[in-house]
Amino acid sequence: MKKVVAVVNLKGGVGKTTTAVNLAACWGETGKKVLLIDMDPQGSASISVGVRNGGNELLYALENSDPLPIVSTDVPGLALVPSGMALTAANQWNTGVTSNDILARCLEQTEGDWDFVIIDCPPGLGFYTMNSLMACKHVLVPVETSFLGLNGLKQMTAAIESFKPQNPDIKIEAIIPCRAHRRRRIHWEIMDSLKEMFPGKVSPIIRENVSLAEAPGRGKPVILTARISKGADDYRLVTLWLDEQIGFELDDDTALSYSDVFKPIENAGSL
Ligand SMILES: Nc1ncnc2c1ncn2[C@@H]1O[C@H](COP(=O)(O)OP(=O)(O)O)[C@@H](O)[C@H]1O
Ligand SMILES: [Mg+2]
Repeated sequence: MKKVVAVVNLKGGVGKTTTAVNLAACWGETGKKVLLIDMDPQGSASISVGVRNGGNELLYALENSDPLPIVSTDVPGLALVPSGMALTAANQWNTGVTSNDILARCLEQTEGDWDFVIIDCPPGLGFYTMNSLMACKHVLVPVETSFLGLNGLKQMTAAIESFKPQNPDIKIEAIIPCRAHRRRRIHWEIMDSLKEMFPGKVSPIIRENVSLAEAPGRGKPVILTARISKGADDYRLVTLWLDEQIGFELDDDTALSYSDVFKPIENAGSL
């Protein structure tokens, strides 16, 4: 059963694309088959895995409820539905006239034995985000640990709740604190607020890290450009945490889970 995960936030620049791309790569690294769907007309996720595309094929698939166009990538385990500027031309879709289940219908028809389908959404609650929310069960919300980072979270939670009549299983699985600066007091204040707002759902943090900022320019996720870096460590750890959070069964009985390794340390108060 494929798990469809949407990476969503109303705000831009918070780390949605960085999170979608790097989680996808980390899951690929652990042997999972992953399909990354770039739903942002800016095509940042596509560029971040070395693919430049005009988005015409995706636009055509959406217009005709056809199977999604899939290209291979150089990232182990990872295939991509590329996006590009052609999607901005679909102005009629932003009027609210058309339905929100177009992507879900395309995805249903798309063949492939994916363990994870990860959708990178544009900022805002426009047509492409709404369609992503209809197509997914699991929502991940990257959040900047700055004062304005909390802005819009309530609005987004309400929007996700409003999907429940049509998509009853949709659930915010995780709030992922991104671009974190642990030495700033505001970081800890925001972390406290997030834990209060979303108990049990705040993931380990992703620190601000130059390797993460540099990787897209090389068309690769951080685990391939800076294998040993804070960025690679943090995304690998969040992947492990999400496996448990989403209930992804470990194939190998001997594999260590997030709780095996980190819970005793957290409980000891050393983190
Ligand atoms: N943890 C991080 N450390 C350093 N730079 C980051 C980090 N997360 C994201 N960035 C950079 O911040 C910018 C915005 O991130 P991005 O993932 O594109 O946000 P969004 O998709 O929400 O607009 C990009 O230039 C990206 O490389
Ligand atoms: Mg983005």
